[in-house]
Amino acid sequence: MIKTIGIGNDHTGIALKQAISDYLSQQGYTIINYGVDQLVKDDNYPEIAYPLSVDVSNGKLDGGILICGTGIGMSLSANKVKGIRAVVVSEPYSAKMARIHNNANILCFGARVVGVEVAKMIVDHWLHHEFEGGRHQKRIDMITSIEQGSFGSNHH
Ligand code: RB5
Repeated sequence: MIKTIGIGNDHTGIALKQAISDYLSQQGYTIINYGVDQLVKDDNYPEIAYPLSVDVSNGKLDGGILICGTGIGMSLSANKVKGIRAVVVSEPYSAKMARIHNNANILCFGARVVGVEVAKMIVDHWLHHEFEGGRHQKRIDMITSIEQGSFGSNHH
């Protein structure tokens, strides 16, 4: 059950971060801001992705939302933290599948790619679906073993 959500953005995502934060706060979620709020273009997305991702990984946050121009830099950075499954999503179907098959714990947006209303739909699909487990858990366990360097020949 996701209740506490971290949200982080670089300079490209200030307006989208604010819109999503307001949207989720109004629904009773606790939103913690890891992003920038001033339009100074010398911020670096890994510096925002990293602390949020660590806090998802250690359980301080139930999930995270990261926003940069494309969502790509944020997702690349977040996925370097152990335990993170960060996905860049730009339409609702993938948002749903990212939850039910991949149990993604961080959603990434491109602020230059998706509009506010589509982003809200994506967030809804990610939050309101449940991970199916079973064979999908087995596959996630394989991803974890790749991360841990223990993905053996028995998987091939
Ligand atoms: C910043 O211009 C841009 O590179 C960044 O927001 C992001 O899109 C990187 O992946």
